[in-house]
Amino acid sequence: MAGNRTFTMIKPDAVKAGHIGAILAKINEGGFRIVAMKLTKLSAEKAGEFYAVHKERPFYGELVEFMSSGPIVAAILEKDNAVEDFRTLIGATNPAEAAPGTIRALYATSIGENAVHGADSDENAAIEGNFHFAGTEMF
Ligand code: RTP
Ligand code: MG
Repeated sequence: MAGNRTFTMIKPDAVKAGHIGAILAKINEGGFRIVAMKLTKLSAEKAGEFYAVHKERPFYGELVEFMSSGPIVAAILEKDNAVEDFRTLIGATNPAEAAPGTIRALYATSIGENAVHGADSDENAAIEGNFHFAGTEMF
């Protein structure tokens, strides 16, 4: 049963708009168990490190500024096929292309400010979870 964990963040836009509860309800309804969770804030330096893979992309500066602009909710989630199923639950990066009922279709406002992050592989889910949480904070 490999690959049963993913990592997510509720991004600053959705936290600011008061959508934490609604998004957690969708995560709960989606059958995910919460392994770790916290309300926190990324410094620009930490946000840059987290999204280092996008360093050469034209939107990197904007992304770092946005992700450090306010508090986020970071969480590790567990479910069979967690990474893929969570990306299905959140929908496409661009909310205009996100399937109806997905978290991004409901709560994202633009391709940049798109409400939630979802890890894109089992390997990255583990790296990202360890970036935000100590082993003693995972249950
Ligand atoms: P995420 O990593 O946040 O779950 O999003 P994703 O996999 O769906 O998309 P990715 O390609 O990894 O992009 C990371 C985040 O960068 C911002 N972005 N802005 N302005 C743009 O064209 C643009 N493209 C991407 C979004 O916040 C996206 O989620
Ligand atoms: Mg991504």
